[in-house]
Amino acid sequence: MQELEGSALTRAFPSGISAIINTLLTYTSSGDHALICDNVYGPTASFCNKILRKYDVAIDFIPPDIGSNIVEYLQPNTRLIYLESPGSNTFELQDIPAITKEATKRDIITVLDNTWATPLFLNPFALGVDIVVQSVTKYISGHSDVLLGTVSVNQRYAEESDTFYQVMETFAPP
Ligand SMILES: Cc1ncc(COP(=O)(O)O)c(C=O)c1O
Repeated sequence: MQELEGSALTRAFPSGISAIINTLLTYTSSGDHALICDNVYGPTASFCNKILRKYDVAIDFIPPDIGSNIVEYLQPNTRLIYLESPGSNTFELQDIPAITKEATKRDIITVLDNTWATPLFLNPFALGVDIVVQSVTKYISGHSDVLLGTVSVNQRYAEESDTFYQVMETFAPP
């Protein structure tokens, strides 16, 4: 997966939703604001609505065809933008380079769920995305053969992510 994604670091998780939840928890803190694309996988939206908000992370949903107009939704404490392109079931596309351009200027992390396109059809890192999550349960494994997720990060987040994964590994069975 690391080779396919062209990432600096890729780690496996027990499922796609586990990869997503771990990413959202790792990269947000109490007092942050996160923008979530309106066409994300349903449980991702539910996690943000029902759990992340409990930890004082403010959540706003953004239109699924968003581009440079992302600036209208940014707040001084916006920490993370979460994209899915194409999005679950409705398949809208976001203007990824326009969004990452604005995010990078402000040091905001961009995360993209690449389950639908897979790294074969979309290379989010080439478009400036920082973190790519993938449900390997789906197309990438042939579908229904395994339950697995991955999180891939660019060089900028490799060290921070690796520290987090090392903490997680201390809980893994020998
Ligand atoms: C776009 C997308 N992301 C994440 C997931 C979650 O993946 P998993 O079933 O491996 O937890 C799914 C599952 O349907 C999905 O369609």
